[in-house]
Amino acid sequence: MTAPILRRLAELRTQTNAWKRVGETIGVVPTMGALHQGHLSLVEAAKADCDRVIVTIFVNPKQFNNPEDLAKYPRTENEDAEKLAPYGVDAIYVPEPEEIYPAGFATTVSVAGLTDVMEGTFRPGHFDGVATVVAKLFLQTQADRAYFGEKDYQQLMIVRRMARDLDIPIDVIGCPTVREPSGLAMSSRNLRLSPEGLTIAARKNTIMRELAERLPRGEPFGELAKEAEAALLDAGFTEVEYIDLRCAETLEALPHANRPARLFVTAWADGVRLIDNIAVPNS
Ligand code: PAF
Repeated sequence: MTAPILRRLAELRTQTNAWKRVGETIGVVPTMGALHQGHLSLVEAAKADCDRVIVTIFVNPKQFNNPEDLAKYPRTENEDAEKLAPYGVDAIYVPEPEEIYPAGFATTVSVAGLTDVMEGTFRPGHFDGVATVVAKLFLQTQADRAYFGEKDYQQLMIVRRMARDLDIPIDVIGCPTVREPSGLAMSSRNLRLSPEGLTIAARKNTIMRELAERLPRGEPFGELAKEAEAALLDAGFTEVEYIDLRCAETLEALPHANRPARLFVTAWADGVRLIDNIAVPNS
């Protein structure tokens, strides 16, 4: 059965208040729609942990720094509701834009530090848009737990920091990236790749894993990153924005993987910007 679609905050509140009154826990999976297996794995995790699960679908204009990217973002509400049907979620919240950004909306939630690197450098303002909308969705849904994919690892760290800093009583839970058999991280943006683009994109994960496997041998990261960049361009990527090794906790840049670390790579293939990251073994 498809879950009820709620478009108004008042309807959502009536529902969540009723659940809270009888002591039920609420999990939220915030999305921008175009759901794929990665999102559905978050729904599964939420269903396993919580009495009630809300999936939110809102294409958030404030986190797009490129109007063309916003216009091209897939909007597939009916298909999304069908995909969710077998999971028995309790509500799909698809807020009207004015429920999120009412006339005169003047507040921005901005997380310092963690937003200064990687995606924050290449997409100025993006994380302010994310932190603002996620803070609203946390408060609107009154959820006890929220589920985010590790594919957007920097986003996960920022949202967790934001919830802690603002005392929003919610556990932010990170779930593993879901991948295609080729290793390509699932993403709504993959829908825009041509068959040839998909073949190119699929090489990225192998190149990342090869780099990560060489780190514990003590080879300098800078040299390995240069080799990986050449391999990506050779595979057909048109531009490599960054290849970074960073502390898994603070996101500070590391010369060696001498503590829990992650490798982050963002590159363009077939006109699509593809981000990914993996955990790397400690050296
Ligand atoms: O990861 C996403 O899909 C979005 O950034 C999120 C968390 C739903 C906020 O709009």
